[in-house]
Amino acid sequence: MIGQGISRTDGPIKVTGRAKYSYERTEPGTALYGQILGAGIGFGRIARIDAAAAERVAGVRLVWTYHNAPEQAPPEGPEGDMMDRARPEFVSDRIDYYGMPVAFVVAESLEIARHAAGLIEVEYAAEPGRYALSAPDETADWKSETRIGDIDPALDDAAAMVDETYSTPYHFGQPMEPNACIADWRDGHLTLFLATQMLNQLLVGLAATLKLERNQITIDSAFVGGGFGSKIVLHAEAVLASLATMALHQPVKVALTRRQIFTLVGHRPASISRVRLAASADGTLSAVGHDALIQTAPSEAWDEAISTVGRALYATPNLLTRQAHQMLDMKAAEPVRGPGELAGLMVFESAIDELADKLGVDPIELRIRNDTDYDPGKNSPLSGRRLVDCLRDGAERFGWSERPRTATRRDGRWMVGYGVASSMRGHFQTSAEALVRIDPDGTVVVRSDMTDIGTGTYTIVAQVVAEVLGVPMSVVRVELANSDHPKGNGAGGSWGAANTTVSVDRACKTLLEQVAAVSGRVYNDIFAEVRRHFPEGIEATGRIVPASDDPNYQTHSQYTYGASFAEVGVDIDTGEVRLRRMLGVFAAGRILNPKTARSQLIGGMIWGVGAALHENAAVDPRHGSWVNGDLAEYLIPTHADIPAIDAIMLDDFDDKANHLGVKGIGELGAGGTGGSVANAVYNATGIRIRDFPITLSKLLPHLPRR
Ligand code: MOS
Repeated sequence: MIGQGISRTDGPIKVTGRAKYSYERTEPGTALYGQILGAGIGFGRIARIDAAAAERVAGVRLVWTYHNAPEQAPPEGPEGDMMDRARPEFVSDRIDYYGMPVAFVVAESLEIARHAAGLIEVEYAAEPGRYALSAPDETADWKSETRIGDIDPALDDAAAMVDETYSTPYHFGQPMEPNACIADWRDGHLTLFLATQMLNQLLVGLAATLKLERNQITIDSAFVGGGFGSKIVLHAEAVLASLATMALHQPVKVALTRRQIFTLVGHRPASISRVRLAASADGTLSAVGHDALIQTAPSEAWDEAISTVGRALYATPNLLTRQAHQMLDMKAAEPVRGPGELAGLMVFESAIDELADKLGVDPIELRIRNDTDYDPGKNSPLSGRRLVDCLRDGAERFGWSERPRTATRRDGRWMVGYGVASSMRGHFQTSAEALVRIDPDGTVVVRSDMTDIGTGTYTIVAQVVAEVLGVPMSVVRVELANSDHPKGNGAGGSWGAANTTVSVDRACKTLLEQVAAVSGRVYNDIFAEVRRHFPEGIEATGRIVPASDDPNYQTHSQYTYGASFAEVGVDIDTGEVRLRRMLGVFAAGRILNPKTARSQLIGGMIWGVGAALHENAAVDPRHGSWVNGDLAEYLIPTHADIPAIDAIMLDDFDDKANHLGVKGIGELGAGGTGGSVANAVYNATGIRIRDFPITLSKLLPHLPRR
């Protein structure tokens, strides 16, 4: 069962519409509808807000502003934890970011709620806000510094060096299912059907905000339509729906509009990087430097680790990576699709390509020459380091030897080029528990608060149980995403599958021991043994300890690896970039299910294409608003943008990660993909764009004249 490409067990109910997402859940009964009104300025205060007209509309049940909102825990400073912190709404007349909630209407229908919200009069006293990121310099307040040796003399003495500035824009997660919930308060208990990725972690912040005990809240997220980081942090819809049901004693549902997902859910921070590389004539790296500046907010400093992505990618005697924050009057940033790696590797692997070009060394050869087995960030060996295998295997499959010399290959009006980039993504272990129960009636039940955000958790959990207990998958009932179940680790940080299945495997093995103790190790039917010896059924909880308690995580650094290849065509007149084919080769431990794994990997590769060519959330520098805050103008790759694409998973097993040899893959596909596309554009045209995304307006001035 483990390792088989089994189709998702929840596929049929999803495609036939029977899987109920949070906003569609029917258990609470008839619900009221909440509508959030967002601020029309980026920074300043509310001079006057008048909700009288909204309150008079028939069917309106409440209108809240900062004048009359219920008491919540006070906001915390920027140092507070991302998950534990209270996130109160309507705290004062201050506006901290564009679109910040200024009023909340609850009514008997969505139409009434939206209409009434539109009747609220707000006058603002706008103040000048800080909305533009400026380039870092030596006076920046550098954090997260890793320094080995001294890069400056190495840069001075190098046969070839790169010292370039790269920028990446704001990105958003934007899954298909919007952030949405139904909150239901009855008998002193709050049940929240919520689109979220990590239940027990979010519950802590929600309880703090609402000033409830944690055991007064149940979160249920049985089906989640994509996350990409946007459903990790607690947001306004959950806080306001919860407060409203507690006030009205009726269920309240709130869905953010697509535009509100841009303003009320955090973004990937924009970044400006200075990358410095030095090498001897044979391509041996002598210095690696990556300084990155990212946006943060006064309220909160989510530190997207852009600058450290290259730290353990290649060997170097001199290393300096560090990060600085620039506080802008914007919403706090949040995790978004491959935080750190997606933007950081695109930049870093572009710089490596520039170095290869200057040295006249093949870019794959340069990467192989500087292979390493050491993580300077953690001062420990890298387990499962297989970057070179990925590069070599991919080069062979892709036909890398056919790569053209820079700006020499043409196919009609298309200038054609190949690009390559490396991927590396941390594998994280966190505490997780799962309960497995064998019922005498012939079913096995698994319970965990782990979510399935469309990735295949329901399926891989059933596969592991079926294999370990020797039962058919059809008798395994997987019950996920209820916060009353044992605490899993949730879907985030690419850690869900590995940590969940390891804890499930351990629970199953405990059950096998218990059965063997009374039946011996040989029997035909585990259910018959359970009926005979455990008429009430039998259950066990499997656990995985956090990395800090696991010796393997003290002695080794666990990462996953990959190599991305892209072939692009660039239109010689318009600068339009078109992918022609893409390949990713990955080494990510044992693969539980190659079908769901491949879906995740190619999905991640497509995010990489978005970052290289399309995605760019633009801030209006006058008002701090998102100029293109909708899916019509925030461009993402569509099917027509992605031609031949393939993801290869090398046979792998990482015994330092866990006893199943499994590591996370969720965000690995994104890794170097953006860099491979950028490097292919350079190979096709000889034009290097360092300000992402690579749009035709940036290429146009440099295209050859005909
Ligand atoms: Mo991921 S950005 O940790 O969902």
